[in-house]
Amino acid sequence: MATTARAPLLFYLVLCLCCCAPCLCAELVAGSGGYAVRTVTVDKGGTRLRAELAAVAAGGGGGVHAAYGDDVRNLDVYASILCWHSTAPVWPLLRAHAMAWSPPPSTAHFFFFLLLLLSLLAAAPWPRAAAQAAGYRVVSVARDRAGGQLSARLELAGAGRKAELGPDVQRLSLTASLETDSRLHVRITDADHPRWEVPQSVIPREAPRHITLESSTGASPSPHSSVLSAATSDLTFTLQASPFRFTVSRRSSGDVLFDTSAVLVFKDRYLELTTALPADARASLYGLGEHTKRTFRLQRNDTFTLWNADIAASNVDLNLYGSHPFYLDLRPSAGSAHGVLLLNSNGMDVEYGGSYLTYKVIGGVLDFYFFAGPAPLDVVDQYTQLIGRPAPMPYWSFGFHQCRWGYKNLADLEGVVAGYAKARIPLEVMWTDIDYMDAFKDFTLDPVNFPADPMRQFVDRLHRNGQKYVVIIDPGINVNETYGTFVRGMQQDVFLKRNGTNYLGKVWPGNVYFPDFFNPRATEFWAGEIALFRRTLPVDGLWIDMNEISNFVDPAPLNALDDPPYRINNSGVRRPINNKTTPASAVHYGGVREYDAHNLFGFLEARATHGALLADTGRRPFVLSRSTFVGSGRYTAHWTGDNAATWDDLRYSINTMLSFGLFGIPMVGADICGFSGNTTEELCSRWIQLGAFYPFARDHSAIGTIRRELYLWELVARSARKALGLRYRLLPYLYTLMHEAHTTGAPIARPLFFSYPKDVATYGVDRQFLLGRGVLVSPVLEPGATTVEAYFPAGRWFSLYDCTLAVASAKGKRVTLPAPADTVNVHVAGGNILPLQLPALTTSRARQTVFHLLVALAEDGSASGELFLDDGESPEMAGPRGEWSLVRFSCAAGRDGVTMRSHVVHNAYGPSGKLVIGKVMFLGLHSPAPPREFAVYVNGVKTANSMGGALGYQRSGALGAAQVEGLYLAVGKEFELKVVTLS
Ligand SMILES: *[C@@H]1O[C@H](CO)[C@@H](O)[C@H](O)[C@H]1NC(C)=O
Ligand SMILES: *[C@@H]1O[C@H](CO)[C@@H](O)[C@H](O)[C@H]1NC(C)=O
Repeated sequence: MATTARAPLLFYLVLCLCCCAPCLCAELVAGSGGYAVRTVTVDKGGTRLRAELAAVAAGGGGGVHAAYGDDVRNLDVYASILCWHSTAPVWPLLRAHAMAWSPPPSTAHFFFFLLLLLSLLAAAPWPRAAAQAAGYRVVSVARDRAGGQLSARLELAGAGRKAELGPDVQRLSLTASLETDSRLHVRITDADHPRWEVPQSVIPREAPRHITLESSTGASPSPHSSVLSAATSDLTFTLQASPFRFTVSRRSSGDVLFDTSAVLVFKDRYLELTTALPADARASLYGLGEHTKRTFRLQRNDTFTLWNADIAASNVDLNLYGSHPFYLDLRPSAGSAHGVLLLNSNGMDVEYGGSYLTYKVIGGVLDFYFFAGPAPLDVVDQYTQLIGRPAPMPYWSFGFHQCRWGYKNLADLEGVVAGYAKARIPLEVMWTDIDYMDAFKDFTLDPVNFPADPMRQFVDRLHRNGQKYVVIIDPGINVNETYGTFVRGMQQDVFLKRNGTNYLGKVWPGNVYFPDFFNPRATEFWAGEIALFRRTLPVDGLWIDMNEISNFVDPAPLNALDDPPYRINNSGVRRPINNKTTPASAVHYGGVREYDAHNLFGFLEARATHGALLADTGRRPFVLSRSTFVGSGRYTAHWTGDNAATWDDLRYSINTMLSFGLFGIPMVGADICGFSGNTTEELCSRWIQLGAFYPFARDHSAIGTIRRELYLWELVARSARKALGLRYRLLPYLYTLMHEAHTTGAPIARPLFFSYPKDVATYGVDRQFLLGRGVLVSPVLEPGATTVEAYFPAGRWFSLYDCTLAVASAKGKRVTLPAPADTVNVHVAGGNILPLQLPALTTSRARQTVFHLLVALAEDGSASGELFLDDGESPEMAGPRGEWSLVRFSCAAGRDGVTMRSHVVHNAYGPSGKLVIGKVMFLGLHSPAPPREFAVYVNGVKTANSMGGALGYQRSGALGAAQVEGLYLAVGKEFELKVVTLS
C-alpha cells in the first residue's frame, strides 16, 4: 500500500550508504524555533536510522532530545506524511533548516530530503491523514444512552508490525468512560480472548458496562471521529477512526493532554502505544517509579523500566523494588496538572523522549486512567480515590526509628537504646534486621544471641518506656522438616508452584519456598504465623523485605514465558526477567502466571501482613514494605531501599520520597546516614538534618560498615537534637497531614509546585520540599557547605528556628541562607497556622504537653490551619463512628491587631476537652515600630493573666512577631483570640 512512497526513501537511504556509512551531518542550528537537526546516522545495514534533534525554543533555553527512527517499516509512515504534508505550514520551518546549513554539494539533495523528513517528524509526529500504514482502524462505534461511555471495535489495518515479537491481535475492543467528573477510563483489549488484567481484588474498580455494538456494526464509522464529553467533566475523549488514534483533551482550555500515534501494536506479549507531548517542553512530568533518579522531574531521553527487582537503590536509573506506571503532567499555561495511570502489572519500558512517551509492555491490556486535576492536589486526590487512600499510620510511627543490620545480640540492642537515652536524643522505635532469627528463619529467635525470654523482657521494658519494637521478616520459608512454620505451610499447601511442584528458591536461610499470597490459605497461614510469633515477642510492627521477590539464584527457563520476545531493560542491561527472582513460568493459585503477577507480590504480602497485624492486635498496623505496586499505600509504608552513604544518595532521597507521595504512599523515607558503605560525621549530621523531616525517619546501616547511631559523634548528636527536636514539636502538624493524606491522598512531603503550581520556577526544585502546604525544608546536600541556596516562592517565609528571620518577596527568589554545621533551614510560609507541642524523647510524652499555635500571617494578614486528634492507634482514622476531633483555625489581621478563631469541625475525641493551647505566636505583624503594649481578649473578655511581649522586628522592615503566653484554651472548645496592639 505504501510501496510507492517507500521507493524514493529507499533510494535516498542507498545513496546515503554509498556516500558515507555511517554518515554524519554537521552541526546545525536553525534559528526560527521548533527543532534543529544535530546529527543523523544510518547504520551499515541500512535498516535503522537515528537522528538527534535539538529543540530551539523561541526564548532560548530549549533543550536537547533525541528521536529515533524505528525501522524501515516506520519510514513508510513518514513517506506518507511527506506526501500529505507537502502543502502544510511546516514549510517555513524546513526552509529555515535548509538555509542554516550548507552541506557538501554531492550529498546536499539527500540531506535536504532527510532534514525534510526529520523536521516533519518533529513538527507533526502524529499526522491525522497517514491513512495507509496504520496499526488499527475503527470498524464500529457505539455509545450508551446516558452518553458517559463509548465502545468501539478495532481491526488490524495492513500487515501488522514488528513481526519478530509475535502475531498481531486481529480485533480489539475499546471502551472509554467518564467514570467521574474528573476521571476518564480508556481500556483497549483483545476483542475475542480474555487477557490478564490487574485483578479486581487488588484494585477494586468499576467494570466498563457492556454496550451492544449491533446498531453500528457493519456500517462505516461516520463521522470520522467520535467524541465523548460531558458538561460536568473537564476531560474530553476523541476517537479517530482510520487510522485508529485517540486524544484526551482538557475541555476548559483545549489543551491536548494525551495524543496517541497511529502506531498501536497489540500482540499477546507485546503492547506498544505512543502519546505525543507538547514539543516545546511545556510539559513537566513526574512519577513512573520506582527508580533512583538524579532529578525529581523526569528528564527526556530516558527509559523507565518497571519490573520489581532486588536492585540496590544506590544504583541510579535502574528498575528497583516497586512498579508505579503513573505520572503527573504539569503544564505551565494555567499551572494545571493531570495524571495518567496505565493500570498494568506486567513488565514494561516507558520511553520518555520529551515530545513523546512510548509504552512498551510485555502483557496485560492497555488500561488507562486519566485524572483531570487541575491542581496537583486534585490529581493525587482523584488518583487515590481510584487506587485506595493511604493507610493511616500510628502516631508513634512518626517518632524516630533506629535500625542496623549486624546488631550482634540483645546486649547490643540494649546498649543502643541506652545510648539514645543518655544522649537525650529521641528514640521511639528500636528495630532488628535478620540477625535476630535462628538461621534466618522467619518467626524464630536465635537461641544464643536473641533468646526468647530476655527478648520478651526487653520488649516489655521498651513498652513501659513508651517505645516500640519492630523486626524484619522475609517471604522465603526455609525448607526444613524441623521448622514448624515450614511444616504448617506444607500441610496447608500455601507455596508458589512451578511445573506442578513447589518452586524452590534460595535466600538468606538457604532453600526456601515462597508463600503464594493469591492463595487465601496463604494469607491465613501468614496471619497464623504472625499471631504465634507475637505470643513469643509482641512486636509493634513488621518490616517486610526481599519481596520483589528476591532470589539468590537465577531460575533456568522452563517455557516461553521465561524469555519473552521483547526484553524490557531489566537492570539496565535487558537482563532476563527471571534473573534473581522467581521464574515467570511459576504459577500462582487460580492459575495466575508469575509472568503477569510478578509486580504484585509485595502488594499482596503487605496486604496479608497488614491484615494479620490488625487481626492480632486490634490496633492500627504498621507495615514497612520494600516492594510496592499501585495501591500499596492502603497497607504499608515504604523506605527507599538500599542506598549508600554518599552525598549523592542523600540528595536523591528527596526525589524518591516525593515520587512516593505521588504514588499514594506518603509514609516514606530513606535510610538516614546511608545504608551501605561508611558514612562520615559530616554526612551523617547533614543526613539527620534532612531525615528528621522525612515522613518516615529511620537510621539504618549495613553489616560490616561503621556504626551510625546518632549519639556516636558529637556533631551528629547536636544536629539530631536540634532537627528531631523540631520534628517532635511539629508532630501534631505531621499527624494532621497524615489525616489529610488518608482522606484526600495529599502527600505529607510535597514538591514546591503542589502549593505554587503557577510558579514555573518551582517545577524543577528537588533540593527542597514542603511538609504539607507550607513548611519548607532546605537541607544542605553538599560536603563542606556552610550556606545553602534556597528557592522561596512569592510570599513571606519565617524561619522555624528563629522566628524573627524572614524572607519576603513579591516574586519567587533564590536566597543564600546560613547553614551552620548543626542546623537545617526550615521555614513556614505566611498564611499557615501550625499546631505544635513541646519536644520530648518519645511521642507519647510529647503528646502530653501543652499545645502552641504558630500563626504565620500572609501579606494580607490572613492565616489558616488545622489540627487532627485521635488516640493515634485506632484502626480507623476519622471513621464515621470513630473518636476523633478536627479543629480549624483561621486568622485575620487588621490595623489594630489580629483576631484568631477556632472552628471545631468534629469533636468526638474525649481528651480534646482537656488538651489546652497555652501559647500563640503571631509572625508577620505589620507595625512600623515595636508596639508598647498588647491587649489580649479571649472570647471578648480582656484577660489580665495573658501577657504579651514583642519578640523583635528585625530583617524584613516592619514585620514583627508577638507571643501570647499563659493562655488556657481547650482544643475542643471554639474560641476567639484577639490581640490589639497599642502604640
Ligand atoms: C540519549 O540517550 C542515549 C542513551 O542513553 C545517549 O547516548 C544520548 O547521548 C542521549 N541524548 C541526549 C540528547 O541526551
Ligand atoms: C533445619 O533447622 C535446624 C534448626 O535451625 C538446623 O539445625 C538444620 O541445620 C536445618 N536443616 C536444614 C536442612 O537447613
